[in-house]
Amino acid sequence: MSGIITITFSPCIDKSTSVPALIPEKKLKCSMPVLQPGGGGINVARAIKYLGGEATAVFPSGGYTGKFFNHLLEMENITSLIIESSSETRENIIIVEESSTNQYRFGMPGTQLSEEEWKKCLKAVEENDSAGFIVASGSLPPGVPADIYAQLAKIAKSINAKLIVDTSGEALKRAADEGVYLLKPNLSELGTLAGLENIDAGAVESIAKKLILENSCEVMIVSLGSEGAILVTKEESYKVKPPKVDRKSTVGAGDSMVAGIVISLSRGMSLKEALQYGVACGSAATMNEGTSLCRKEDADRLFERIKLE
Ligand SMILES: Nc1ncnc2c1ncn2[C@@H]1O[C@H](COP(=O)(O)OP(=O)(O)OP(=O)(O)O)[C@@H](O)[C@H]1O
Ligand SMILES: [Mg+2]
Repeated sequence: MSGIITITFSPCIDKSTSVPALIPEKKLKCSMPVLQPGGGGINVARAIKYLGGEATAVFPSGGYTGKFFNHLLEMENITSLIIESSSETRENIIIVEESSTNQYRFGMPGTQLSEEEWKKCLKAVEENDSAGFIVASGSLPPGVPADIYAQLAKIAKSINAKLIVDTSGEALKRAADEGVYLLKPNLSELGTLAGLENIDAGAVESIAKKLILENSCEVMIVSLGSEGAILVTKEESYKVKPPKVDRKSTVGAGDSMVAGIVISLSRGMSLKEALQYGVACGSAATMNEGTSLCRKEDADRLFERIKLE
């Protein structure tokens, strides 16, 4: 089994609460807030823990909020490589309106990282040469160059680790230009990669194959929400549709899926099984309220059903 490192340049504290109804100008009484550490790679590391695995999370952290953030991760026993930052770790707010059950998500802007700080994050990964897999996930805060995941791709190659990238926009394009092991775009991110506004579900396989032949990645897993996901490599392609689940909130589905994929690969499972377990973990995450990630018992049960089909 090979080690897993996740890297998150824009971590956040997710503060979730609810109000009876969202009414302007009035004082609204919120329920007791629940605070959770978040951000792409942070969630992947947490989900890996829930699934019975281990990952080291690399991230910048600063100010009082940063201290509290580190504490939240410590409470979940996540091994952390913390890069001290001079700017405060951001906080996001999630409010559920009880009358409608609508969820409102307010994301604060990412806090500035200096060149010294983001370079320290990269160095922390580079020095951890026991990592077989590196997961780079999430948005980039101001100060971090758009080619950061491309730089990470070079580092991954130099330490013989497999890089998995889950992000969007320019950062995703630059990573693909450099070439990584595995990309997990959703349909809109695949559009970004292919330079297309809209992608028809039927065209996913050929678009993914073209990107692989251009050396964007060796493996692509395109996630399709409730329709599951498609695995494409040079040699094969394979689609998995999840069984119907009692969906509560799709927040965290993508991160749980990536956790399921990388934990499977680190245990030496095949790409096909990693896809099946990834879909199971993504769908398991949707069975939980709010920002909650997947639970192992749900993921394992869905995986057994997917394997039978
Ligand atoms: N409505 C749903 N019902 C069942 N499973 C779902 C649903 N939405 C997502 N999933 C599961 O989660 C996986 C990833 O979801 P999705 O394609 O929405 O990723 P994403 O757009 O990257 O999500 P995120 O917004 O979390 O980044 C899917 O492949 C599927 O297994
Ligand atoms: Mg996503």
